[in-house]
Amino acid sequence: MSISIENMTKSFGGTPVLRGIDLTVESGELVALLGPSGSGKTTLLKIIAGLEWPDAGALDVHGTDWLRLAAQDRRIGFVFQHYALFPHMSVRDNIAFGLSVRPRATRPPKAQIAAKVDELLQFLQITHLGERYPVQLSGGQRQRVALGRALAIEPSILLLDEPFGALDAAVRRDLRAWLRDVHDQTGSTTIFVTHDQEEAFELADRVVVMGDGRIEQIGNADQIHDHPASPFVARFMGATVELPVTLNAGRAEAPGLDASRLPRRALPDGPATLFLRPADITPQADPNGRWQVARCDSNGAILRIDLRDGDSTIPVDLPRRAPQAAALTRGARVTLRPEAGAIFPAPRGAPAPITPVEHRKEKAI
Ligand SMILES: Nc1ncnc2c1ncn2[C@@H]1O[C@H](COP(=O)(O)OP(=O)(O)OP(=O)(O)O)[C@@H](O)[C@H]1O
Ligand SMILES: [Mg+2]
Repeated sequence: MSISIENMTKSFGGTPVLRGIDLTVESGELVALLGPSGSGKTTLLKIIAGLEWPDAGALDVHGTDWLRLAAQDRRIGFVFQHYALFPHMSVRDNIAFGLSVRPRATRPPKAQIAAKVDELLQFLQITHLGERYPVQLSGGQRQRVALGRALAIEPSILLLDEPFGALDAAVRRDLRAWLRDVHDQTGSTTIFVTHDQEEAFELADRVVVMGDGRIEQIGNADQIHDHPASPFVARFMGATVELPVTLNAGRAEAPGLDASRLPRRALPDGPATLFLRPADITPQADPNGRWQVARCDSNGAILRIDLRDGDSTIPVDLPRRAPQAAALTRGARVTLRPEAGAIFPAPRGAPAPITPVEHRKEKAI
């Protein structure tokens, strides 16, 4: 089932939460909605599910206007952000729920429901858990059951709102691979919400980056990493260094910057900001360099380096075995050579200061 959303808006108490969403999801596609907290991801899913109504806009599913359909007529499988299995029901009864509460006329006979539950338990690889209660399950097992409950009604569309949010990293990785298999085998159209970039890019055919009620960009991992559509996307993708530069014939110029690795941009001459990820900067030893190594710590694989010039600090992550690494002892002078970066013309007004190092997030490796 394909989904087409056009110019959708929604406000809560006068505060806009969706500000004109246009999105098409192809039949059988797995799309991830990625964005910071409060950007409107859950609200958009709820509107598709019929649990919330937009103020304006269209929601068309395979040629049918879904805004005219009640939630129960949409055949949606929904796994919620904060999973809620029925605690007083066994795993089997939880999975059977959506079928057993149907009105008598459309409810399958008991034996057929039981057979469907058996099939799902096997498909989800949780056959041994059928008689247990939710309290007797691990978080990962509960999420499998929650997905089983969503799949039991043979949904036309599967909506997953941070289904792995509460789980630890290793379990998330397992479930991610498993979910991709489940999706491929059921062929359902799936929208998956997360604010974990790695999860979004690994799982999805396409990633939709949302910020403050708008779609900022749609693309795959390389497109969004290499060509962020806005400063918001660049920051969200981990560009924590914002360097004021001057564009001259499409090339970024700034003291202590070697921009030779960056392609020329078709942008007007003048002030601009260069957005860089710490891992995309290679410091080059240079006795006359503007920047000085203030800190250099190894975690075994990566050197975390702070480069300083007066009050400005730039974080750099360099593989420990990179040829440049040996020269980067404390106090060494260097030039910045970015291997990749995004440039946006500076907004009118004062140039942005270089992002201070305090904002840098330590990432587990
Ligand atoms: N029923 C409601 N009444 C009032 N405000 C709401 C309601 N539901 C959501 N909001 C507000 O709408 C905005 C978007 O909420 P939403 O739940 O869609 O965000 P989200 O992207 O899913 O965030 P998170 O990643 O934290 O789950 C938030 O500012 C939220 O407080
Ligand atoms: Mg949410």
